[in-house]
Amino acid sequence: MAVPFVEDWDLVQTLGEGAYGEVQLAVNRKTEEAVAVKIVDMTRAADCPENIKKEICINRMLSHTNIVRFYGHRREGNIQYLFLEYCRGGELFDRIEPDVGMPEQDAQKFFQQLIAGVEYLHSIGITHRDIKPENLLLDERDQLKISDFGLATVFRHNGKERLLSKMCGTLPYVAPELIKSRAFHADPVDVWSCGIVLTAMLAGELPWDQPNEVCQEYCDWKEKNHYLTPWKKISATPLALLGKMLTENPQSRITIPDIKKDRWFTEIIKKGLKRSRVISGGSSDSSVLCKQIRSDIDISHFSHSEEKTALSSTQPEPRTALATWDSNSSDINNLVQGKGISFSQPACPDNMLLNSQLIGTPGSSQNVWQRLVKRMTRFFTKVNAESSYSNLMDTCEKMGYVLKKSCANEVTLSTTDRRNNKLIFKVNLVEMEDRILLDFRLSKGDGLEFKRHFLKIKKKMDAVVAVQKVLSAT
Ligand code: ADE
Repeated sequence: MAVPFVEDWDLVQTLGEGAYGEVQLAVNRKTEEAVAVKIVDMTRAADCPENIKKEICINRMLSHTNIVRFYGHRREGNIQYLFLEYCRGGELFDRIEPDVGMPEQDAQKFFQQLIAGVEYLHSIGITHRDIKPENLLLDERDQLKISDFGLATVFRHNGKERLLSKMCGTLPYVAPELIKSRAFHADPVDVWSCGIVLTAMLAGELPWDQPNEVCQEYCDWKEKNHYLTPWKKISATPLALLGKMLTENPQSRITIPDIKKDRWFTEIIKKGLKRSRVISGGSSDSSVLCKQIRSDIDISHFSHSEEKTALSSTQPEPRTALATWDSNSSDINNLVQGKGISFSQPACPDNMLLNSQLIGTPGSSQNVWQRLVKRMTRFFTKVNAESSYSNLMDTCEKMGYVLKKSCANEVTLSTTDRRNNKLIFKVNLVEMEDRILLDFRLSKGDGLEFKRHFLKIKKKMDAVVAVQKVLSAT
């Protein structure tokens, strides 16, 4: 029997947002199952109904441990709801320390899982076209899951391959042939973006803004100037693999079967291994050459054909509606006590999804703490809601941010980063048991810059930051 969604599911947390709309965490009140719900407003773009149909159609084809599971969808007027596996570990992006990266052993594990997922996609004729750390999620066991098939397409059908010509993806991650050529093979483009992801994991920065001759860093790479950043931070064995993945000519670029035979891919890396490549010369100022890990750069002006370009899911401007701060809000307390009331409940239509479609979703054994998506950019305060709020507002005002109360318990901060790009993020104030959690989430801009700003604000708010109970990503 159909069970109305509204009676059984609470939308308890925003997991992400993009041009399409947003992704919310939904928790079943009775079973406590957790799912991610992608909410797409089809009126936002003229071609949205077709795009979302394609996304649903591709999602239906997928079944692999390294791909976010699709449970079903429901349409209500102009809104489409896509029900997806909830990945509690958050984004891979959040595991990358700016300018540092992550331990080589972790990078290898994530890379092997990424390649397994991409190999599966290619085996069924699908290309993702927007592989980047923001689209790579982690489950509670740190298993990597490829997410967001909004730009994916079929490149092989009944054994017959079709060349692609549409420009889509995110500029620092796109392969050079996408910028240069009218038609190109799909699979080498995904291999290239996996190479950029590997660089980000091993060095904490992206190598270039775009792979073409106007970009000095790309020219340096082609000239094999490996004494420069980010390459000088990467040890010889993974660097050799990157050399094969980030090869300009797609026909000479390494293929997935050969990546799987590569020395670094197959070697057993010892925990905590610190390998260094001491190469003399070159600048050591990584901040000078640091590229955007999370990029919203529009690639439409690189179009070489009449065909429409598809841009990566960039984050929209924040909502500007002001809402009053509700100091008595204790929604999360209700959640802790099992009342299951959400703290940011959007208008929720009836009959969104049949319960039977969600059988077997994980999460029912998790408590509210475990269910919260892992994120490094949050801390608890040791003062009450009003003081936390006023301290945040005062601190950020002094630091020069433009502040807006976007909705109840949420503040939007806007600024420009050191590369003069727009940076917008939101702070949610959540009452949890006896403490206030300040949860920061990027809305628009470079993720590494966002982390730097978060750390600065946290330092300035030191006097009210609680030492214990920080939800960390590791
Ligand atoms: N953000 C976007 N999609 C998500 C998902 N499926 N799980 C967790 N966070 C997400």
